[in-house]
Amino acid sequence: MREGIKIVTIGGGSSYTPELIEGFIKRFDSLPVSDIWLVDIPEGEEKLNIVGGLAKRMVKKSGLPINVHLTLDRREALQDADFVTTQFRVGLLEARAKDERIPLKYGVIGQETNGPGGLFKGLRTIPVILDIVKDMEELCPNAWLINFTNPAGMVTEAVLRHSQWKKVVGLCNVPVGMKMGIAEQIGVEPERIHIDFAGLNHMIYGLNVYLDGEIYTEQYIETLTSGEQSGGTMRNIVDLKWEPDFIKALQAIPCPYHRYYYKTNEMFEEESKAAEEDGTRAEVVQKLEKGLFELYQDENLAIKPPQLEERGGAYYSDAACNLIDSIYNDRKDIQPVNTVNHGAIASIPDDSAIEINCVITKEGPKPIAIGDLPVATRGLVQQIKSFERIAAEAAVTGDYQTALLAMTINPLIPSDTVAKEILDEMLEAHKAYLPQFQK
Ligand code: G6P
Repeated sequence: MREGIKIVTIGGGSSYTPELIEGFIKRFDSLPVSDIWLVDIPEGEEKLNIVGGLAKRMVKKSGLPINVHLTLDRREALQDADFVTTQFRVGLLEARAKDERIPLKYGVIGQETNGPGGLFKGLRTIPVILDIVKDMEELCPNAWLINFTNPAGMVTEAVLRHSQWKKVVGLCNVPVGMKMGIAEQIGVEPERIHIDFAGLNHMIYGLNVYLDGEIYTEQYIETLTSGEQSGGTMRNIVDLKWEPDFIKALQAIPCPYHRYYYKTNEMFEEESKAAEEDGTRAEVVQKLEKGLFELYQDENLAIKPPQLEERGGAYYSDAACNLIDSIYNDRKDIQPVNTVNHGAIASIPDDSAIEINCVITKEGPKPIAIGDLPVATRGLVQQIKSFERIAAEAAVTGDYQTALLAMTINPLIPSDTVAKEILDEMLEAHKAYLPQFQK
């Protein structure tokens, strides 16, 4: 009988894995993990072996009784797991590069979780996650599924609405990144900041900011709108400054991804320029990853290298390990995660996934109801939710018209005809990973 906790990480060959290993090592006292199974597919085997080697060295250096296992056999790994984390990328970074480049030809933003890129990432990912859930039903029916795979909101939506699995939480580093950004901008320790988060994944708003428990929203909006930088951004998103009067009128803190919707033209220009010069984000990340994996191969390296912070996913292990720790220890603390709405935001369907502050218990996240989003933010959030629901349905059914409907109602798409052109080109480009559409 195993005494410690068994964690299974699907997509274990990811360059982000050292983050997670560091997180478990740091928290061992309260979260006694005995086994970490890193799972990948044959195409990812080389990366799995390299990053797995580093993970083993990190654990050895810590002196803790944690066993790291590497495998290509997902079912072997899943047996009796306590927590399953998912961080895989169907089609690897080559597919992301297509998601980012193809829409640009049609004058549309190419981004991996927004617009056509987000739709196609969802179409490729959702059938795989639903297969994982089937294996979990059989092999580890009591486990929690903690998903970081993007588009995390759409993936959570799909599990909630297209499977019977209830123990799922979607996780993102954007809220923690916003908190860190705000703390840095006003020059205080992050622990002194609290934010009322509500919305959807990559579409989350800070509705109020608190400093030492006192409301600080107005003062922060002043800082946000008067500085040179907007702050709180991520490595993967260019930090274009907001119009001060717009933010003052909005009276909420947008997340970095809101730039794609409130600054669509400027972001399109930026993405097009990047694609011509240094490459799209996927192409930049391919180079970054090459460097990271060269570092990871160094037999003398036994820590998470600081270069990993060049990636957009900084702090994600904090978010993941804090969540797992709070579920395991029934901490009842507040964390922003993706979970079923259950009426927490009135204008979003009850059975849909939202990203919101929750009390984290051993029974899972309990969303803190906000009533509703402010009117100015509500319409966009609802439209994205409709897009995610229809996209998830297209992913499950492989129905062409449903996919076209999802694409067309996305706010980044200018017309039904452009939607169809992009859809057709992307269906062809990604056909190896979209078996459900090959009928
Ligand atoms: C942010 C997002 C993640 C995304 C990452 C991409 O952290 O929240 O959802 O995966 O950026 O970072 P990358 O370095 O791959 O562009």
